[in-house]
Amino acid sequence: MKNTEYDFNNLIDRRGTDCLKWDFFDDDLPMWVADMDFMVAHSIREAILKRADHPVYGYTVVPDELFDAYINWWDRQYDFKMSREDMAYSIGVMPSISSMIRCLSDEGDEILIQTPVYHVFFHVIEDNNRKVLENKLIYENGEYKIDFDDLDDKLSKSKMMILCNPHNPIGKIWSREELIRIDELCKKHDVILISDEIHCDLTNPGVKYNPFDASDNVITCMSPSKSFNIAGFQSSVVHSKNKELLDKIRNQMHIDNSDSCNVFAASAVIAAYSQCEEWLSELNEVIYENKQTVRQFLENELPVVKLVESDATYLLWLDCSALNTPSKMLSEFLRENQGLFLSAGVDFGENGDDFLRMNIACPKELLNVGLLKLKAGVIALNNLTYCLKI
Ligand SMILES: Cc1ncc(COP(=O)(O)O)c(C=O)c1O
Repeated sequence: MKNTEYDFNNLIDRRGTDCLKWDFFDDDLPMWVADMDFMVAHSIREAILKRADHPVYGYTVVPDELFDAYINWWDRQYDFKMSREDMAYSIGVMPSISSMIRCLSDEGDEILIQTPVYHVFFHVIEDNNRKVLENKLIYENGEYKIDFDDLDDKLSKSKMMILCNPHNPIGKIWSREELIRIDELCKKHDVILISDEIHCDLTNPGVKYNPFDASDNVITCMSPSKSFNIAGFQSSVVHSKNKELLDKIRNQMHIDNSDSCNVFAASAVIAAYSQCEEWLSELNEVIYENKQTVRQFLENELPVVKLVESDATYLLWLDCSALNTPSKMLSEFLRENQGLFLSAGVDFGENGDDFLRMNIACPKELLNVGLLKLKAGVIALNNLTYCLKI
């Protein structure tokens, strides 16, 4: 039964709010950066308004209730048990990964990622003067899988691996068997595994992701910022059973000043994890319906573009290989010709160059405009290519 209190159809004008997605560039329809155009759950809004009502906004400590909210959520949703002493607070997943790279590896070390993957993984490794080592995912018959032989070989040279589960941009939930094999290989080569699980709650209805088992070489990054659309509060935690690693991380995050909590973050996180389960399951229904809309539209109206099937995230990975156009050029063309901004696949690794990434976390009305623009852009591109050939 749908709760009519939640409104996922309302078109909210985000322009004029210093919004990265809508204010930073001039596009008519931005469908790139990973946040949602939906209003947050009422409970989150109420919690923020309640805190805002107190008129002093000074320095804030991270309350125990925030950690309890994480612990209860992971226990209830995923049967994943955590205790307070195994967790550390951070202002975000990427700031914490950056700190971990600095304190758990040395300059020049190789860090493994599985491409195509969230582009900031490349930057955080390179900006810290470490080297990216790519375990390229195999794309076959419209599906991705891990090249375990290559992983075995590359991990023998790596200090650290950053796993993305569910995987942005392909929307894949790694199976328990795959996670166990990754874990075995990391242990075999004495590699520290950072598991970025920020997209874990955004799954197709009835589907659950598999958390990476906490063991001595594993650090998990968690955050409600994607699931509940509260990235602007900049809040996350890291979890590890390894006290020695966690102490080093805590120390580095302290040096980096990335372990403090802003005045609103705790209210938002606690409300999200303790009062918004129903909202989230309805959100997942809406995202799933949007996925179906895209699939049907592509099949019926634009079969030259193929949807890569996914179990998680609101980020769709569109196979545009039949268009024979580099993804940067394609993305730029759609922006100029249609005002539609989709991410170029090459941003996620060279092996992503046949793809575009489309964010479908928006009301249906916007999604339909996006799809029409995509079709019109592809037709315009084909006409242009045809004209240039003759
Ligand atoms: C896989 C992944 N990790 C981390 C982030 C960013 O996390 P944060 O804003 O907490 O740094 C994103 C945002 O899109 C993401 O997709």
